[in-house]
Amino acid sequence: MFKEEILEKKVGIIGLGKYLPEKRLTNKDIEKIVDTTDEWITERTGIKERRIAREDETTSDLAVNAAKRAIENAKLKPEDIGLIIVATITPDMFFPSTACIVQSKLNVNHIPAFDISVACSGFIYGIAIAEQFIKSGAYKHILVIAAEKMSSVTDWTDRSTCVLMGDGAGAAVLGEVEEGGILSIYLGADGSKGNLLEMPAGGSRLPASASTVEKRLHFLRMEGNILFKHAVKVMAEAALKATEPLGLKGDDINLVIPHQANIRILNAVAKRMGIDPEEKLYLNIDKYGNMSSASSAVALTEAVEQHRVKKGDTILLDAFGAGLTWGAIVIKW
Ligand code: UT7
Repeated sequence: MFKEEILEKKVGIIGLGKYLPEKRLTNKDIEKIVDTTDEWITERTGIKERRIAREDETTSDLAVNAAKRAIENAKLKPEDIGLIIVATITPDMFFPSTACIVQSKLNVNHIPAFDISVACSGFIYGIAIAEQFIKSGAYKHILVIAAEKMSSVTDWTDRSTCVLMGDGAGAAVLGEVEEGGILSIYLGADGSKGNLLEMPAGGSRLPASASTVEKRLHFLRMEGNILFKHAVKVMAEAALKATEPLGLKGDDINLVIPHQANIRILNAVAKRMGIDPEEKLYLNIDKYGNMSSASSAVALTEAVEQHRVKKGDTILLDAFGAGLTWGAIVIKW
């Protein structure tokens, strides 16, 4: 394929789907588990409740449910998909990848499938990868799923983190579009600050042992306060880096659909972008908490379902998470 053809090709999201487990865990429920209050959680984070997957429900189950809806929404069949990308930090197991498990559950054997580990920015990185593969002509339709069972890595004795997380999945089918589509992508990472949000054990550095289990090292740990400041800075910066090359200002964006880590982070980002959060910030953190990669995927799906995103709108996806990683994407719907 000639370079001009690659550049001319417009790639967009042609189908979306989400899946949230049925069980709701409210702040009042958490008051019974750790020393916290509904008031503290609501004021400091914006979260009122989150969804928790059943014990027998795995990340791939959440992923498949969201994927089936996205494929149907795109008016396609699973066999029309050429590649599966799953963004997750809570895979069913270390290997095989959750994407391969999803492939098998969707009955679409032999198409390539792989996971990406980008934490909360995973949906954005997944879309970025898919866009390149479609532009190059390698695949026609790509399924990008962001799925997390965060409850499986949550330390239910640590009040500073257990109030934040939730389980869920969102999926998008990408393909060529006639108008609009993805206008710009900006990705970033800073591995030197990885220790601010990590799950210390279980990998080659600290393989699982009785001692790592006893020290509770198989749960996520977070320096919330320091992360907060980074999140505001880099999410605002990512928004600027994705919009500036297109000559877009805050006013030109119809809706910002961010990763939902903390309502105070999002209001601060909106302020830096010069947008009215009431009007232009899509929020669902109150219902689902922080679902890592799945947060922005579910938020985009809901925003479209609720007609907050209309044909011709310019939207901005913006995320930040462990790694540290971050990214933003501008899409004309
Ligand atoms: O997904 C992407 C990555 N994640 C993020 O970007 C998250 C970023 N960080 C945050 O959202 C916030 O830092 C948190 C919500 C995690 C914490 O809020 P904060 O305003 O930064 O609180 P803090 O950690 O500074 O703690 C303030 C106080 C402390 O008490 P003292 O030392 O002031 O007496 C904590 O012990 O609040 C206490 N605290 C709690 N109190 C009641 C911490 N967690 C709780 C709790 N309930 N659940």
